Amino acid sequence: MTDRYAVIGNPVAHSKSPWIHSEFARATKQDIEYVRLEAPLDGFTRTVDEFRRAQGRGANVTLPFKEAACSYSDELSPAARLAAAVNTLAFGPAGTRGENTDGSGLLRDLTVNLGFPIQGREILVLGAGGAVRGILGPLADAGATTIVVANRTVARARELVQRLALPMLEACALDALAGRNFDLVINATSTGLTGEASPVSSGVFRKEALAYELVYGRDTAFLAMARACGATTSDGVGMLVEQAADSFSLWRGMRPQTARVIAALRAA
Ligand code: ATR
Repeated sequence: MTDRYAVIGNPVAHSKSPWIHSEFARATKQDIEYVRLEAPLDGFTRTVDEFRRAQGRGANVTLPFKEAACSYSDELSPAARLAAAVNTLAFGPAGTRGENTDGSGLLRDLTVNLGFPIQGREILVLGAGGAVRGILGPLADAGATTIVVANRTVARARELVQRLALPMLEACALDALAGRNFDLVINATSTGLTGEASPVSSGVFRKEALAYELVYGRDTAFLAMARACGATTSDGVGMLVEQAADSFSLWRGMRPQTARVIAALRAA
């Protein structure tokens, strides 16, 4: 019988996950079906329960349900526990396991696809919302010496940094970055989605810096500014595909190749 998977979010119509997972399934000759499920804002648990009763084997979880998916899980991976957010559910006879592959996906895109090792780097992460939760732990584990989380509302950055309690993490206001610069700057604010101005000025990019925008498929103000400073730039399409490959690997026990899928999404 065909194994069933889904991406659950609200909204979810734009999600590329069904296409990505069907490409993985084709390449690895796995018999799976992968659908989009839009859960009502107050109906995440109900939607997951129904999907499990309909023979669902696992699900990806996207906005705004990653915290709800964390509560739903019977067992959490270390990355999911640290992030307090889950993007991958695996349903088994003993219950539901919650994982977070956002950080591992980002890390793989940075280190393998972009050839940018994290060991010894000074990193600036812009934003303190849901998109940031999953990525701080893996960046810290990979050996970053400094990770500054800068947010417009500094209290949110402080709260996140205090909760993780890792020695290289530091919280700061967006307007308190004057005089500081970094090897890697990750834009995890929603400015890339809304078309707003870059959340930082050009001074934050070191020579040879990498500027990484979590949003994909758009030339954002942040990327344009970084390019004008001579920084190398990347959007988040590689992270999107790598986090999907990590989810696929958890469910199916094999990790698909990602290069062709990334190239196809870039070209689209
Ligand atoms: P997500 O879960 O996608 O991260 P979110 O929780 O709404 O979404 O967070 C959006 C992030 O973008 C926040 O860090 C937000 O800053 P605040 O916490 O101060 O709201 C940041 N953000 C949104 N618009 C911004 C802007 N115009 N300039 C700078 N930061 C912005």
